Amino acid sequence: MKTDPAGKEHGVMGWINRRLPVVDIWRDQLAGYAAPKNFNIWYFFGSLMLLVLVLQFATGLFLAIHYQPNPNLAFWSVLRSIGRDSRWGWLIRDMHVTGASLFFVLIYLHIYRGIMYGSYKKPRELLWLVGVAIYLILAAEAFLGYLLPWGQMSYWGSTVVVNFVTAIPVVGKAIAEWMRGSFVVGAPTLNRFFIFHVFLVPFSLLALVLVHMIALHQVGSNNPDGIEVRDDCNEDGWPREAVPFHPYYTVKDVFGVSIFMVIFFWFVLYNPSGWGFLLDKLNYVPANAIKTPSDIHPLWFFLPFYAMLRGVPDKLYGVIAFAGAFLVLAGLPLLDRNPVRSIRYRSTLYKINLLVMPATFLALGYIAGGSASESNMVVGLHVTEMFYATFFLLPYFNRQRSRAATLVWLVVLEAVVWMVDYWMYAIHAHSWSLMLQTDWLPALYIAVVLLLALVVPRLSADARVPEQLTMGGLTH
Ligand code: HEM
Repeated sequence: MKTDPAGKEHGVMGWINRRLPVVDIWRDQLAGYAAPKNFNIWYFFGSLMLLVLVLQFATGLFLAIHYQPNPNLAFWSVLRSIGRDSRWGWLIRDMHVTGASLFFVLIYLHIYRGIMYGSYKKPRELLWLVGVAIYLILAAEAFLGYLLPWGQMSYWGSTVVVNFVTAIPVVGKAIAEWMRGSFVVGAPTLNRFFIFHVFLVPFSLLALVLVHMIALHQVGSNNPDGIEVRDDCNEDGWPREAVPFHPYYTVKDVFGVSIFMVIFFWFVLYNPSGWGFLLDKLNYVPANAIKTPSDIHPLWFFLPFYAMLRGVPDKLYGVIAFAGAFLVLAGLPLLDRNPVRSIRYRSTLYKINLLVMPATFLALGYIAGGSASESNMVVGLHVTEMFYATFFLLPYFNRQRSRAATLVWLVVLEAVVWMVDYWMYAIHAHSWSLMLQTDWLPALYIAVVLLLALVVPRLSADARVPEQLTMGGLTH
């Protein structure tokens, strides 16, 4: 846009901008946003999620036009009215379903990036907390949406999850009844889930994403080296190690979007049920309140939580373990207070711990995908403990510990693990032999990490953080 010597913009855009600062916002917050120059592949997922959010809103709108939130009509309105009778209905539906699952793939990668590069540390704690709130709201949105096709898995999955809510002391039963609008999942449930899914929750999500973006622009982006680029600015106040978002990262993001679109449409056009991960085959059977399926499980992205709920041998403690997983994630800024942000400069043992963390999460998903056998539940319990162990080990790495301190950490964490196991056994007496088969998992993991730190202290020593971003000689 042309400007006169006084800096005043000409033309239509100038006219608009003087009344509504769209050009200023584009220039200051988007095109002119100072982005660290070493963003890597892990920095694709935020903008890809913005794209998927738009896609979900757009496809959801068209689905809502044809969908009937009534138990007698819902199933066929999805499969027949949308899937067959309305033009391109099948495409819109498959895009919405695939979008939901890929949203979770992206959010898990995005969260893990944040963990790897310590993006939750000062000054980004609130940005992180808003992110965790987004994750919760997205989970609620997916849970609500899954009931709408009114298939067998929709019906029974919702029944099981709402039943877990009854375990909350004092208010649990009332909340569950309020969620269902009845004593069982039925017409009132479908109606309210539909309204929450298309109205309240998506707009809350949108508002939170906006807050997320505002918080990001307030504190600036972190980067794979974890160095604060805003601390080193030139005479014009521009961070020396940053580049303008446009054109550098708009071009990079267009590349990311292209790759993502290929994957997205491969699923939509060639594999819409995604080997049963995107759409469960039992959901092609209409909901039947008097026929319980032999194996009820949620969609893949909830499986790790389902393993926790199923593995912990008490409904209430199961719900606590489930909620605790969100709490430890939100609590990362408190758990990990080491001043070094990026995994690149953290100790070897810390790196291993950060690999074990998602590995246990994936293992929980795998376990929940199996049958509800006793042995599966016991393994689920111990892997849940191991998942938590990876979080509670983080404070150990806050600084280089003495041998005596390491020993204290070892004794305390081992005592906690064995006490929790004994407690779980006291609540529900699984056979001891079954318990002992995997009991050692969390205990052994903690022992290996801390004994290695004790014997080879350099394994728990962080590396020196460079003063500048390390981008193959591109630093000035
Ligand atoms: C709808 C979901 C979300 C959207 C659309 C979204 C969008 C974005 C975008 C566009 C960025 C900047 C680009 C990038 O760094 O990739 C970003 C950064 C960030 N997001 Fe999210 N986000 C979402 C969910 C989350 C969640 C669940 C968390 C954490 C629990 C989170 C934590 C962060 C953090 C810490 C940053 C700054 C990272 C850095 O600079 O290294 N976000 N987000």
